[in-house]
Amino acid sequence: MIHIDELVIKYGDFVAVDGISLDIQTKGIYGFLGPNGAGKTTTMRALTTLLKPTSGSITIQGLDAIKDMQEIRKRIGMVQQYISLDKEISVRENIICHALLHKVPRKEILSRMKELSLMLGLEKYMDKLILDLSGGWRRRTAIACALMHRPKILFLDEPTAGLDTQSRHILWDIVRDLRDSGTMVFLTTHYMDEAEALCDHIAIIDGGKIIAEGTPVQLNNLIGKVAVDFERGGKVITKTFASRDMAKEFISENIPEDSTYSLRKTTLEDVFLELTGSGLGGVVDD
Ligand SMILES: Nc1ncnc2c1ncn2[C@@H]1O[C@H](COP(=O)(O)OP(=O)(O)OP(=O)(O)O)[C@@H](O)[C@H]1O
Ligand SMILES: [Mg+2]
Repeated sequence: MIHIDELVIKYGDFVAVDGISLDIQTKGIYGFLGPNGAGKTTTMRALTTLLKPTSGSITIQGLDAIKDMQEIRKRIGMVQQYISLDKEISVRENIICHALLHKVPRKEILSRMKELSLMLGLEKYMDKLILDLSGGWRRRTAIACALMHRPKILFLDEPTAGLDTQSRHILWDIVRDLRDSGTMVFLTTHYMDEAEALCDHIAIIDGGKIIAEGTPVQLNNLIGKVAVDFERGGKVITKTFASRDMAKEFISENIPEDSTYSLRKTTLEDVFLELTGSGLGGVVDD
């Protein structure tokens, strides 16, 4: 699907993306997870042919991101982090403009628009101006626009940033529906729970470098399946273990009976903290 080889992107002397290589085979939901400034948007802009890499190469469905830019643009859809809709016109008008720009056959525009407005729950909002819509509805409109030319891959940059919990869950369901109907979704997020709940495959990026890649289960297994949170010196410390038995052994040997602790499954947040070196605890192996 997507192949990235030694991708480097500099802004002046600043290296925003520092030699990323990824071979993305999944047809499902691929998550690009990392903190603010990690290089997610920069990478996505290169993948969507909006930004020319400083060096390295990108191929999408076997097409080169520079040589075959026009063909790639026909096959992908994107919703940028800072959504670019025309705010002075309606949802319907935005969708039609986008369809015309992408040369969707005129006789298909109405039926596709109807299908997408139904899927995204936009029917009642079609004649509202973007100006009058909240962030969640703007994002749904942007997704409808991005899907009008029936892309094989949809790129979503921070699809749920700034949305309330209910809107986030609705958006997750929309993304899952897209995956189930055969569209590959590549999304960036800085929410660990979003990556964990939604993505079939995840790459973790930090400081322009990929620090881990795999399914959520594979990533959790990198640091062990079980975590213990306990208090020491007024701080909460987390330690991760390969098995529940090892965690229990640690608790009986190290945590006084009258102090509180919790034993739980590890999360992507633990993986991130461990791998970026800012985790507080260590990994105990089998
Ligand atoms: N046009 C630009 N000129 C100079 N530096 C830039 C530019 N765009 C991004 N950067 C820098 O490159 C780094 C990566 O930025 P990028 O926007 O890709 O991060 P991100 O992972 O998408 O972050 P966020 O979660 O905040 O969206 C940051 O340090 C950012 O300040
Ligand atoms: Mg970004």
